Amino acid sequence: MSCAQKKVVLITGCSSGIGLSLAVRLASDPGKNYKVYATMRDLEKKERLLESVKGLHRDTLDVLQMDVTDHSSVLRARDKVQEGHVDILVCNAGVGLMGPLELQEAEVMRSVLEVNLFGTLQTLQAFIPNMKSRREGHILVTGSTGGLHGLPFSEVYCASKFAIEGACESLAVLLQQFNVHVSLIECGPVNTNFLENLQKVELGDSSLDALDPLTRSLYQSFMMHCGSVFQNVAQDTEEIVKVFLEAIESPEPAFRYYTSEAAHPLVKLKTTRLDGLDYIREIGKITFPQDQEESQQDRV
Ligand SMILES: NC(=O)c1ccc[n+]([C@@H]2O[C@H](COP(=O)([O-])OP(=O)(O)OC[C@H]3O[C@@H](n4cnc5c(N)ncnc54)[C@H](OP(=O)(O)O)[C@@H]3O)[C@@H](O)[C@H]2O)c1
Repeated sequence: MSCAQKKVVLITGCSSGIGLSLAVRLASDPGKNYKVYATMRDLEKKERLLESVKGLHRDTLDVLQMDVTDHSSVLRARDKVQEGHVDILVCNAGVGLMGPLELQEAEVMRSVLEVNLFGTLQTLQAFIPNMKSRREGHILVTGSTGGLHGLPFSEVYCASKFAIEGACESLAVLLQQFNVHVSLIECGPVNTNFLENLQKVELGDSSLDALDPLTRSLYQSFMMHCGSVFQNVAQDTEEIVKVFLEAIESPEPAFRYYTSEAAHPLVKLKTTRLDGLDYIREIGKITFPQDQEESQQDRV
């Protein structure tokens, strides 16, 4: 396929995980259908990506520096796109945060919102005008089931991902008038560097001593629950990339794609039982299973 016919894709957060896998898959496309601009905030981390493509894809891959929290860095990356436009924008960069809310420092909470929310918004701002004027484009955003339903000890992360849902849904309503599609790829747990990179209050951390015993014990249950979920049901990035491809290749992309059916019952519960309580009780049972058993035993 000639350069002129290739779809131009720009992806944020390609140093690892989902962004890296997606960049490698698209740059290695057998039909050479894509020209990929894989962006990352720290170019010193580009070796992993370059090793994954084994130097084979010089004509389909470029690596650019882009920190989504730095407006001038976003604009610089955009202006380096040789084709002068992006057909497919993937807002993927994100960070996690876990721990009792009362222990989170304001600066840390802000930094999560800076990347996940403001970083995504300012990336969208940089690329939307050109897509609008060309009456063409597809925006994909790596969403999270933590943006569809709340999770204990994840208030700030969920707030950032809920906010992304609202921003994307609002944009999708407008952009359909411009033939620009918006798709959220809703992921549950995925085997990436996310857990390692996640800022969290460790179980042995002395800051936990300031908390009441029930919160401490619930946090311990939740951490065990998360550990077992990531060990047993986390998806590999290849599965996530398949869902991205389905969305990218669709002539009429959906607004939401779920990478696994595991989230469906909770999402349905939330949207059909409008007072919200059934969902909150259910997620409590799932995330604090030990405490459920103990309180049942107490009642016997
Ligand atoms: N893994 C999961 O379980 C899971 C579940 C649901 C949703 N997600 C979402 O999936 C997306 C990708 O995460 P992942 O699982 O692939 O984790 P990951 O391996 O930690 O990748 C996150 C990427 O975001 C980048 N990033 C962080 N801050 C950035 C910034 N200011 N500017 C540009 N890039 C930045 C990281 O770069 P550095 O290497 O420089 O830090 C890294 O490349 C995130 O939006 C996350 O919320 C993940």
